[in-house]
Amino acid sequence: MSAILITGACGQLGSELRERERVFRSAFEQSDKSETGFTKIFFTDIKELDICDQEAVNTFVQNNGITHIINCAAYTAVDRAEDDLTGALKLNGFAPGYLAAAMKSVNGYMLHISTDYVFDGNGPLPYREEERTSPLTTYGRTKLEGEKAVIATGCRHNIIRTSWLYSCYGSNFVKTILRLAIEKESINVVFDQIGSPTYAGDLAESIIKIVSLSGNIPPCNQEERNWEDYIYHYSNEGVCSWYDLAYETIRLAKEKWPEESGYRFNCKVLPVTSDKFPAPAKRPSFSLLNKDKVKAAFSLEIPHWRSSLEKCIRNMKTQDFTT
Ligand SMILES: NC(=O)c1ccc[n+]([C@@H]2O[C@H](COP(=O)([O-])OP(=O)(O)OC[C@H]3O[C@@H](n4cnc5c(N)ncnc54)[C@H](OP(=O)(O)O)[C@@H]3O)[C@@H](O)[C@H]2O)c1
Repeated sequence: MSAILITGACGQLGSELRERERVFRSAFEQSDKSETGFTKIFFTDIKELDICDQEAVNTFVQNNGITHIINCAAYTAVDRAEDDLTGALKLNGFAPGYLAAAMKSVNGYMLHISTDYVFDGNGPLPYREEERTSPLTTYGRTKLEGEKAVIATGCRHNIIRTSWLYSCYGSNFVKTILRLAIEKESINVVFDQIGSPTYAGDLAESIIKIVSLSGNIPPCNQEERNWEDYIYHYSNEGVCSWYDLAYETIRLAKEKWPEESGYRFNCKVLPVTSDKFPAPAKRPSFSLLNKDKVKAAFSLEIPHWRSSLEKCIRNMKTQDFTT
């Protein structure tokens, strides 16, 4: 029997995976060549399993026969991390190593999520996986430590670096813009930071495919693999600035919720430069990720950010961003 542990399951990505539990189980069982049968999936968040507690991680893995881990837990408050290096390092830097070590001890597999913030954003071209990392922030530095900790254990793994994640769940830029749009006449949004948004629902679907294929490679074929090569970049297709994303979000909201619905999305989006928005953590100005490797390895067709944003807003309810 395979048993998959999903950590941080109440966050954006974890919730999107939970929503797809049945699809996941069926995809995983179909590609499981070991014919070990039934797959159990455990969704945990800090209340059920604090991943910073190494003993608790080992006990959970042993007691539940965990064979695969998808780590969606992270310290994602980028500005707060600047004043809390210890907290961010524990969760982003050390805990992924505990999970990976637990998988190493049972010859298991781990998929870890990382970020575009491991780069400084000064590059002229979309970042490839092997490019030099140079994080600007505590969040980025601690996430990079997490990648290294996973690799150092020598466990079978994949690391996916993603960017600008949003979903109907959790807190994110798209939901903040929707909330501000019904409260304000106008909002200022930076137009000089460029990247690609990632709809967490799309990423969840790709993770299901990646874990089903990569996590099921028989142990006898593992030796020849160099797991450092198994870092992948993933975001939606296309390019935009935060201003473009805000503009499109409000345009789609106006379409979905016309004035008769009781919500008014007449707020103007004004483009401003980053110096008008001083924040504790400096954001990379160019965050594009090159996705050729993940698309080729797993035959992925990644949707354009505009169509995924539309899909997300179509599924969203007003209480998702008003409460
Ligand atoms: N959000 C983005 O824009 C973005 C961009 C690039 C990469 N990523 C990466 O993508 C991954 C998923 O991000 P996300 O946005 O889905 O994160 P998220 O919504 O912040 O969810 C993280 C979850 O982890 C939980 N958690 C916190 N401490 C924990 C602990 N000690 N043990 C277990 N769980 C704990 C959080 O609980 P609480 O809410 O109670 O703290 C939360 O439910 C992360 O690795 C993140 O670094 C995110």
